[in-house]
Amino acid sequence: MAVITIDGPASSGKGTVAKKVAGQLGFHYLDSGAIYRALGLMVINAQLKKNDIDAILNLIDKMKLSFTNNGRVILNSLDVTEIIRSENVGMMASDIAKISEIRSKLHNFQQGFNQPPGLVTDGRDMGSVIFPQAELKIFLTASVEKRASRRYSQLHKSSDSVTIAVILCDIMKRDKQDCERSSSPLTYDHTFKVLDNTDLSIEETVQTIINWYNLSGKC
Ligand code: DC
Repeated sequence: MAVITIDGPASSGKGTVAKKVAGQLGFHYLDSGAIYRALGLMVINAQLKKNDIDAILNLIDKMKLSFTNNGRVILNSLDVTEIIRSENVGMMASDIAKISEIRSKLHNFQQGFNQPPGLVTDGRDMGSVIFPQAELKIFLTASVEKRASRRYSQLHKSSDSVTIAVILCDIMKRDKQDCERSSSPLTYDHTFKVLDNTDLSIEETVQTIINWYNLSGKC
């Protein structure tokens, strides 16, 4: 069964790209960030602190998470697709994602999404930890300015109060936290293909990955 992993920093476009690659290949898609975000939302709603590790581990047992075919994220029967995208949920997700006990409890949960005919998944450690044997492992990145401007365009549609300076700061803080944590940091090695899409469109990025996938195993 084929697995393609797409890891990379916040707002590198990995979610949009991974979804389209999965669509073109007829594979399943797993947004692993949505799992951390959903848990982050539960932590906020339960008014827990990010270091209440035992209580957060208990929340995982109560987390019933599913992804619909039309891209909605359902948490304990509620549609949380939009709310988990907010900046405060993203920051909580990044905070709790540093905790190794939480990461190991989510390990098997994520591997369970590997179903025929194949899987495309995006996150921070999908190629390094969760699916190290994947056929194709991509590290997708873009300049921090480009990523902030993409995020700004996305958020500006729903909120006028957001500024690009705040987003730039949030992204830099999240990059630092995701790269410097001791448990499964955002990283890559020689087994990954690095794709910088600062100057590429979504379609060009998708096509590059499909071409690499078609060539994988042939050279
Ligand atoms: O990809 P995203 O921005 O939706 O992810 C939200 C946070 O979740 C991110 O800051 C780090 C964490 N995360 C992680 O640690 N490992 C993953 N595989 C996916 C996300």
